Amino acid sequence: MTLDNFVVFEGIDGAGTSTQIKILKERPESSRISFSAEPTEGPTGRFLREILGGKIELNPKTTAFLFAADRAEHVWGKGGIVDSVNEGKAVVIDRYIFSSLAYQGVSCGKELPRKLNEDFPLPSLLFFFDINPETSLKRIKNRDVTEIYENNDYLTQTRKQYLEVLEEYKNNSHSDGMKIVTIDATKPKEEIAKIIWSHISNLPIFKS
Ligand code: TYD
Repeated sequence: MTLDNFVVFEGIDGAGTSTQIKILKERPESSRISFSAEPTEGPTGRFLREILGGKIELNPKTTAFLFAADRAEHVWGKGGIVDSVNEGKAVVIDRYIFSSLAYQGVSCGKELPRKLNEDFPLPSLLFFFDINPETSLKRIKNRDVTEIYENNDYLTQTRKQYLEVLEEYKNNSHSDGMKIVTIDATKPKEEIAKIIWSHISNLPIFKS
């Protein structure tokens, strides 16, 4: 199932999704958009941050379950994605099921993340920020926190998984009309912002 007015930004670490969300938040139309991100700020999301920081080491399968649990609350919890869309808002989020299919696809194989994520509604618009890991890692090397997936080898495999997963959605009837836009994430941020707005401004909510 696809949810109208639901938009997802995806890409490997350092691809620039958060920068674009920041730019989008500055638009006057942003009052009609609910913004959030995964992992969320909720209890499971906070626990995931500790895992991502390397403080706690878990079996990769457990981590896949936790991402799905965090997502369940994000989607169906009170004030979550479904509620916001039903209240007539657009929803824009940084990362979603495609992150699990790509990152956990590398760490624990494709099957489990697929099973855990099959029931979540799909966005009507998905932006994939494509970039090679050498370039993306250069961008994030000055951050003070380094997370467990932020290395060239892991991100090379993750990018490959993303491309495979998106190809599957493009060719599959269960993608239910989800529009996938691949962005060359090495372009100047102003140019990317224009491309993004050209698509978001076409959502039903901004047409009515
Ligand atoms: P990220 O958006 O990169 O946060 P920040 O830039 O603030 O560190 O997300 C954190 C990490 O979580 C990123 O490496 C991808 C990973 N992740 C998964 O592995 N699976 C998932 O399902 C999600 C949502 C994120």
